[in-house]
Amino acid sequence: MEILDLRHFSSVDLRPLLEDETRVWASMLSWDYSGSAEMILRYVDAKILPGYAAIDRGRIFGYSFFVYEGSKGVVGDLFVANGDRLPNAREVEIKLLTHVIETLQQSPGIHRVEAQLLAHQAGSVARPFLDQGFQRHQRLFMVLNLRGSVSKPPVLHPEVEIRRWTEADYQPAAAVITAAYRGHVDAQINDQYHTLAGSLRFLNNIVRFPGCGLFDIESSYAAVDRRAKNLIGLILCSRVRGDVGHVTQVCVLPEYRGRGVGESLMAASTMNLTKRGFSMLSLTVTEANAGAVALYRRLNFDSKRVFDAFVWAG
Ligand SMILES: CC(C)(COP(=O)(O)OP(=O)(O)OC[C@H]1O[C@@H](n2cnc3c(N)ncnc32)[C@H](O)[C@@H]1OP(=O)(O)O)[C@@H](O)C(=O)NCCC(=O)NCCS
Repeated sequence: MEILDLRHFSSVDLRPLLEDETRVWASMLSWDYSGSAEMILRYVDAKILPGYAAIDRGRIFGYSFFVYEGSKGVVGDLFVANGDRLPNAREVEIKLLTHVIETLQQSPGIHRVEAQLLAHQAGSVARPFLDQGFQRHQRLFMVLNLRGSVSKPPVLHPEVEIRRWTEADYQPAAAVITAAYRGHVDAQINDQYHTLAGSLRFLNNIVRFPGCGLFDIESSYAAVDRRAKNLIGLILCSRVRGDVGHVTQVCVLPEYRGRGVGESLMAASTMNLTKRGFSMLSLTVTEANAGAVALYRRLNFDSKRVFDAFVWAG
C-alpha cells in the first residue's frame, strides 16, 4: 500500500471508489452523494483538488481531500472502500488523515484547520487530530420520519410572522447568523459565523454548491418581526436525496428566543416537506448545544449517529 498525491490521478481512477462511497452515504445517512462525487471528479480532472490517495496494486481504495478557504484549510472528505470489512481500514484512514493534517499545518499562510467527518463514528479517527492539538466537538446526526408524523404548529408570538424565504433575505440573513452565533459553540467549529462576510460565504456555499445537498427554497422560511419588518430568524433546507430534506441552518436572534419562533420555523419546513411527499428530514447539531438538541428531541427527531468536528486554531 502506498499513499500518493491525489493530483497524480484522474476521474477514471477515482470514480469506482466514489461509487462505493455514494452507496455507503445512501445506506448510512440516506444521502445522495452523487452530486458531490461529480464535483470532486471534475476537480480531480482539473488537477486542482489537493489530497491523498491510498493505492494497492495500482488501484485507489481510499482517499482524503481538503480545500483552502483563505487562511483556513477544511478537510473535505475521507473514505476507504469496504471500511467495515477491510482489516486495516482504520490504519489506512489514519495514514491518509495524518498526511492531510501535516500538509495543511505546514501550508504557508494557513492558520486554522476544520474537519467534520459525518460518515465516521465519533472517536474512530480522532487520534491524528488530537495528536496534532486539535479540539474535538461531538455532533449528532438526527432524523425525523415525516411519514405518519403530524406536526402541529406551536402557538407563535403575535409579533412574529413566518413566511417563505426569498432572494432578498440573503444579506439580512448573514447579519442574523452572525448575531445568533456570537459566543456560540458552533462558532468555534465554523469560523465563518464570526463575521458578516463569513456568514455570507456560508450562505453562498449552501445555496450554490451541492456539498450539502441542493438548496430547497420551498421548504426554507424567514421569521419576521411584524412591526419592525426585519428578519429575526431563518430556516434553510436542502434536498439531500429525492425524498429527504436536510436542515442546513436554523437560527433566531437572541432577543427573540424562547417564544416559539425556532419551533415554528421547524414546523413550517416539516409541514412543507410532508405535503410534498418527503419521507425524512435530517440535521446535524453539536451535542453541547443543549437547547437546540432539546428542541429537536421534543419535535421527535432521533439521534442516529454521533460524529466528530475537529478544529485547530494555529
Ligand atoms: C435553537 C434556536 C433556533 C431555538 O430558537 P427559539 O426561538 O428559542 O426556539 P423556541 O422558542 O421554539 O424554543 C426554545 C424554548 O423556548 C420555549 N418556548 C417556546 N415558546 C415559548 C413561549 N411562548 N413562552 C415561553 N417559552 C417558550 C420552548 O419550550 C423551548 O424550551 P426548551 O428550552 O425546553 O427547549 C435558537 O436558540 C438559536 O438560534 N440558537 C443559536 C443558533 C443555533 O444553535 N441553531 C441550531 C444549530 S443546530
